[in-house]
Amino acid sequence: MKVDLNFKYSELIHKLNRIKPFDCDTAITLGSGLGDFANSIDIKLSVDVKDLPGYPHSTIEGHSGKIHFAAYRQKKLVLFQGRIHFYEGYDIEKCLLPIFLARKLNCKQLLLSNAAGGISNHLAPGDLMLISSLNAIGIKKELTNFIGLSSIDQHNRFIDFPDKSMIASIKSAAAEEKIALKEGVYFFTKGPSYETPAEIRMIKISGADAVGMSTAHEAVFASVLGMRVAAISCITNYAAGIRQTKLSHSEVMETADSVKEKFERLIKKSLELI
Ligand code: HPA
Repeated sequence: MKVDLNFKYSELIHKLNRIKPFDCDTAITLGSGLGDFANSIDIKLSVDVKDLPGYPHSTIEGHSGKIHFAAYRQKKLVLFQGRIHFYEGYDIEKCLLPIFLARKLNCKQLLLSNAAGGISNHLAPGDLMLISSLNAIGIKKELTNFIGLSSIDQHNRFIDFPDKSMIASIKSAAAEEKIALKEGVYFFTKGPSYETPAEIRMIKISGADAVGMSTAHEAVFASVLGMRVAAISCITNYAAGIRQTKLSHSEVMETADSVKEKFERLIKKSLELI
């Protein structure tokens, strides 16, 4: 049986459309490293996700659940703060709800950010990596079933990710801001635990440069819904086995915090040029 997302989330969509201060054009998913982005721009309205019927609550430290509406330069933004992850026990429908809502709010473009473990030699903690392609193989079946079984208004079969013009704008923004921007392939894993060194060796052979637990399904779904999409990873740690050091969530949070200023500057300049 098809799931009619418009019907199922009609109360939520109606509420957002009623309270939104303007028509939005651009959505940003704030991952680690951009968690405080909302504090650095002019927010017109913030909604706690607890006040949104049917919206899941993130349970992770450093991921407070808010949806912000903000104007920045010519852009009308909706910011999703506090991601919904598989590793918290949510299913694909909940994980993709923010993307669906971004489309319902009329966003034509989506900028995704995340934290990722660096695998390639050219990546180190603190680097920003523009995602040149992604590997969603670990979620393909669920994603295909979900997309196939949802009645949604638009349905592009060919995934046009990343959007070429967004990539060009982000690269120009990095050059203007003198920010070193790496590029690479992002490999999705569901978690909940970080990978083993053997898994990382396998992932590396598959052609990936970095690994993380979000973004891939979001980018595919947004593209299916007809949005232009680009994504940037904040490399927060060496992936398992790349160095001798032990991985920890606090290391991820600390590195994310240290790149915050650079990451925010890159996003702001990119928004001007996109
Ligand atoms: N693996 C998976 N997800 C991550 C990592 C990692 O090393 N770092 C940040 N998110």
